[in-house]
Parts: sequence; structure tokens; C-alpha cells
Amino acid sequence: MTRSSQLPGFYKKSIDERRAFVREWAGLSEEEAASYAFPPGVDPATLDRMIENVIGVMPLPLGIATNFQINGVDRLIPMAIEEPSVVAAASNAAKVARDGGGFLAQTTAPVMIGQVQVLDVPDPVAARLRILDHKDDLLAASNAKDPVLVKFGGGAKDLEVRIVRSARGTMVVIHLLVDARDAGGMNAVNTMCEALAPEFARLAGGRAVLRIISNLAIHRLARAHATFPAAALATPTATGPEVVDAILDAYALAVADPFRCATHNKGIMNGISSVVIATGNDFRAIESGAHSFAAWRAGEVDAGTVILPLTTYEKDKNGDLVGSIEVPAPVGLIGGATAVHPTAKANVKVLGVKSARELGEVLAAVGLAQNFAALRALATEGIQRGHMELHARNMAVSVGARPDEVDRVVERLVRDRQVRFDRAKEILDELRRGAPG
Ligand code: MEV
Repeated sequence: MTRSSQLPGFYKKSIDERRAFVREWAGLSEEEAASYAFPPGVDPATLDRMIENVIGVMPLPLGIATNFQINGVDRLIPMAIEEPSVVAAASNAAKVARDGGGFLAQTTAPVMIGQVQVLDVPDPVAARLRILDHKDDLLAASNAKDPVLVKFGGGAKDLEVRIVRSARGTMVVIHLLVDARDAGGMNAVNTMCEALAPEFARLAGGRAVLRIISNLAIHRLARAHATFPAAALATPTATGPEVVDAILDAYALAVADPFRCATHNKGIMNGISSVVIATGNDFRAIESGAHSFAAWRAGEVDAGTVILPLTTYEKDKNGDLVGSIEVPAPVGLIGGATAVHPTAKANVKVLGVKSARELGEVLAAVGLAQNFAALRALATEGIQRGHMELHARNMAVSVGARPDEVDRVVERLVRDRQVRFDRAKEILDELRRGAPG
């Protein structure tokens, strides 16, 4: 019998009814269906209001990165991520940075860009000036849409008009620059853009279509820098200064080669995204913003460069490694999931951040820490050894090792450098037969 995925009224059912339906549909066992259960302390009704057709939760491990000192303040960093080694790497990097005085971080004002696209404008250059002639009135009209934001010092602060040549003709694109204060800004910006679009269209003499925030948040940046003392970087086979040079070589490849740069920036986002997720912020917005910022800045620096690392490394006069990062940080503490999700709220409390800007500073510091840790590992012993033990542990559990057997299976997998499912099974069988390891 064919089944239909068209489920009229599915959204009206209770969480339990939806879950029972999906269980039946997929033939899930009781245990599999139970993995969707809400943990104690998480109110199903809260999560049911957050998205549609909720059937349960998908928990991610939440770890705490240690050793972080940012602008002189010690912070514990909650990180939600599925990938092994990320939390440990961030903690280790923060320890080295601590020896060099910790992370110093800063942010720009939390200004987001809203875009309004106006088409069919006969005289785009003059239209630009007609809109700019009315700037003060247009900003006032935008601000009338969100008096609360204005009361807290935010609101529409400026506007820019761009002329964009596209495959479908020349377009006038207005950028409304809105200080979102402690919010992500999505709602405030979109509301203002939708409200102002008819007036922009009238002034331009065209028709307005798209009215939406831009994730390329070039005005809402977080920055951090730290010194990683060469003396702390020595390994059994390389001196500290040699490691500094190896890291600079690794960084140079990311600058010169987009294929390496993509991975370099991915490692940065391992840190940033896991804090963004832990605080209930929109990680897709941050990811999109970070990667497009890396490309946008590359174009600004040199038209032939397609993407640049979000971090920079230099050697200071003492021969120590100095790392810095600059990245868009459009995160909020109010108005989104951060304010309603119980775990996100707890995580914000653990972080101890009181403003979206402070959260941005944390993100920048964690991104830099994560990137330094990756470069250090890659430039010395490689990342596999660190990964291997955690990977082996997962593998031991997945072949059915009991808690009292896991350590012995892991030890042999790592010792033989063969972290494979078939080997884990063989080792477990041997252990159970009492064969010598
Ligand atoms: C893995 O998730 C991240 C790294 O590949 C980052 C990098 O190569 O810089 C280790």
C-alpha cells in the first residue's frame, strides 16, 4: 500500500499523537521512539510553540570549555556540538592564551542592514539622491515602527542607497542601518523595511519587491586578539619558535588558497557555532554571515581574491604568536529563542554575559581559540591522534562494549592505530574469549 506524506491537520495534533504517528510510519521500536522524549526541566509546550509539527527533541552534547579569560573576566563557555575534540581544543588554546594575558575582545555597535530592492527605476542615479534627500524623514518613519528599540538607544541610524547591476537590469537597493541593541534584529529590521518600502519605491519612481535583513552584517563585528607565547608551544620534537613558524606557514596557505581557507574558517565556526547553538541563536545566520564576510572582505582587499581567513597571525617582537579575528556577530539575548529556550537561558547565565555585545566578544574569542588549536595541531602532530581516542571510545560503545570493557578496547584500538569497526569487534571478541591483548 502506498503511503502519503500529505498529512492534513497534522499540525493540529498533540505532540504525543504526532510522535505515535511517526513511530508507526517508520516502524520505530519503543526505545527509538523514547529517544525523542523531553528531558526533565524542558516544558514540551515551550518547544511546541517554537517550531511546527514538533514530535520531540534531538539533544546534542553540551560541553563546557574551560580556561577562558576575556577582557580580564574568567568565563565558562557552554558549547553544543556533535564533534569530538572541539571543546578540549578550545580549552587547551584558552590555557595558552591565558599565559599571554588572555583574550582582548571588542565589538562595534550592533548595527544590522535591512535591504529594500526597487525595480524599474528609469533614473537610478537621480533616484539615489532623491531618497538621500529625505533621509531624516525616512529614518524617523522607520523609528516610529519600533519605539521600544528607540527607547533603549537603538533604531534606524542611517541609510545608504546602492545601484546594483544585475542580469535582470539595474536595481536600486536601499540599505537601512538599524541598531538592534540586544536583539538579533531580524524582526525590527524586516518590519521597518516592509513599512518603508512603498515610500522608497515612490521616491525612486519604481516598484519595491524584496524587503529583508542581510546576513552580511559588516557593521556588527566582533573582534578578539591574543598572544600565544612561543615558549608554551614547544613539543617533544619541535621548539616553540619552530611551532610559531609552522603555524604561520599553515596560516599563509589559508590566505593564498581558497581550498584551505574554507577548512580554516570551518574550524573557526566549530567554536563560534557551538556557542551560538548553546545560546539559542540562529547559527545559520552566523555561518552565512561569517563565510560571506570572508568573501566580501577578500574582494575589498584585492579583486582577484575570492575568500580570506577570518583570523590573522603574526609574530611579535618577542617571537610570540599573535592571533586576531574579526567576524560578524549578529546574535541577540532578547526577542528570540535565547529568551525562551530553557537550556539556552541557563547557558547564557553560565556565560555571564549581560549584553549581545558581550556575547559577541565571547564568540570572537572562542573562534580564535578554536582556530589556533586547529593550526597548532595541524602544524605539529596532526589532528588524528587527539581525535582517535574519542573516536575509538564511540566505536567501542557502538560494537557493544560494556562500561567495564570500553577502556581496554579503546587502548588497543589506539595502540594499533586501527580505529575501525571490524577491529573493535574483533578486540571485543578476543577480550571476551580471554585472549591476550
Ligand atoms: C575540523 O572540524 C576542523 C579542522 O579541519 C579545522 C582546520 O583544518 O583548520 C581541524
